[in-house]
Amino acid sequence: MRRKLVVGNWKMNGGRVANAELLAGLVEAGPFDADVAVCAPFPYLGEVALSLQGQRLGWGAQDCSKHESGAFTGEVSASMLAEFGCRYVIVGHSERRALHAESDQLVADKAKAALAHKLTPIVCVGETLAEREAGQTDAVVKRQLSAVIHTLAHCISQVVVAYEPVWAIGTGRTASPEQAQAVHALLRAQLHAATQKSDEMSLLYGGSVKADNAASLFAQADIDGGLIGGASLKAADFAAICKAAA
Ligand code: 13P
Repeated sequence: MRRKLVVGNWKMNGGRVANAELLAGLVEAGPFDADVAVCAPFPYLGEVALSLQGQRLGWGAQDCSKHESGAFTGEVSASMLAEFGCRYVIVGHSERRALHAESDQLVADKAKAALAHKLTPIVCVGETLAEREAGQTDAVVKRQLSAVIHTLAHCISQVVVAYEPVWAIGTGRTASPEQAQAVHALLRAQLHAATQKSDEMSLLYGGSVKADNAASLFAQADIDGGLIGGASLKAADFAAICKAAA
């Protein structure tokens, strides 16, 4: 059976004092019967790493460059993250696809850069409301995942995939467990065609996951945990979600 994974995506939130409080609260609420990690903004990663030393909580970044090094002002490379012991890096979050015009291929290249430095990319896919209403959900998520499969080839089994319907992010409107499961099953079937290890891969759901809906989502056959935004910013809320994953 796949072990559940719950990842907090802090997005552009937090501060040194708030982060310390949040992490202390999580440590106190744990240990959890699931893998748990937090993805913090770049400036805080060093401090997060120090706070979590010796704890059973992982940490990661929210993005990385596809480049190794060089004249890319403002970018952070996967090798820099790896130097600090980073475990995960989110790539292709819908906010980056929408606000920074990240293409499917760029997202795939970032996942490749992450793997080259032994980071686990959490590759986000998901359709907009307009795409869902036009009946394009399956085609959109398959197209997004296909770029990553094509670029990573047999290494695809080393990524975590997060299905995050854009219309469910930060809206309080969660996909129903059945809606989410249907897309997860589709993604796992697509992965199965590419790797014999698809059964071992973690597929996370993200989009308005809260303490009161987490258990029913995580109970679905192909949902192996969650990528949590707003509810990951309060220790009690995030801990309750982590416990629902046990
Ligand atoms: P919310 O949990 O705030 O809807 O955000 C989900 C998300 O985008 C996680 O990456």
